[in-house]
Amino acid sequence: MTERLAADAAGIARAAALLGAGGLVAFATETVYGLGADATNAAAVAAIYEAKGRPRFNPLISHVPDADAAFRHALADSRAERAAAAFWPGPLTLVLPRRDESDIAALATAGLDSLAVRVPGHPVARALLAAVGRPVAAPSANLSGRLSPTRPAHVLAGLEGRIAGILESGSCAVGLESTILDLTGPHATILRPGGIAREAMEAVIGPVDLAGGSGDDVKAPGMLASHYAPVLSLRLGAAAPEADEAWLGFGPVPGAAAVARNLSPAGDLVEAAARLFDALHELDDAAIAAGLVRIAVAPVPARGLGIAINDRLARAAAPRGGAQSTFR
Ligand code: TXA
Ligand code: MG
Repeated sequence: MTERLAADAAGIARAAALLGAGGLVAFATETVYGLGADATNAAAVAAIYEAKGRPRFNPLISHVPDADAAFRHALADSRAERAAAAFWPGPLTLVLPRRDESDIAALATAGLDSLAVRVPGHPVARALLAAVGRPVAAPSANLSGRLSPTRPAHVLAGLEGRIAGILESGSCAVGLESTILDLTGPHATILRPGGIAREAMEAVIGPVDLAGGSGDDVKAPGMLASHYAPVLSLRLGAAAPEADEAWLGFGPVPGAAAVARNLSPAGDLVEAAARLFDALHELDDAAIAAGLVRIAVAPVPARGLGIAINDRLARAAAPRGGAQSTFR
């Protein structure tokens, strides 16, 4: 059952409690409705992908109540500070280097060492974020491949029964997703055009590049960003580890590997998704330290979140081309 909550003090308190308990809650921002989860709770973030039926783990935007909160999780340079002062709260997302000490789940950033942060301007979103007291990861609240929702009815049409609650507060004023500005490199780059125009941004921080093309998930910034890939090669669909391999298991373990992690001993795909990036990181480091040459990966069923898990494993296993770099 999806709780339909009024956007008043009681509804906001209930929505914050649901989020704090790991539930998914849709809420209005000034751009589109977001599907929120506690960004520090990997299982809650995994549930976002499951509810949306997303076939891949795109990195998500973490929503916070103010710039101070944003810069506790990501490193701001003077461009970020100026952009934040000029456009937050508002339809701007900044991609910044992630702080090592941030407790945002690796799944929320799809294992990247950058973090997308945004301070939304909608009063209901701001009140909710203040009440939650933790960053809220939120993609647009639509099923994968559908249009972004700008009214509660749009959200409910796709997600009713799949999410814990929705804070209903009418239609979104901007109706177009936030502008995503990448400040991780020397050239400020708009990864996704949106609610704030390039010219307005240039007036505040100087020259801004535009990443090729426009659109939502097609030229998605997550696709342009370097994807996480382990240093060691992966052998997928393995029945058991060989002597020189570390083991990434799913379900019962077939033997003893010197270095092993299990995505989910019980074979639970949500748990497996929540652990995927941490397990790959840990295994990579431990396997290299132990002198192993490869990571053998147990088969993961191709249903539900298994589709996104397999997509990410296949990319991590693919030969490294020039375009795809590791982030370490
Ligand atoms: O207006 C908006 O931005 C809405 C509201 C809910 O805030 N959210 C939204 O989220 O549009 P979503 O998940 O539909 O789109 C976020 C985009 C994705 O294309 C993702 O690849 C990109 O942001 N992104 C997130 N983190 C990133 C990162 N670290 N580096 C590059 N791109 C990133
Ligand atoms: Mg979207």
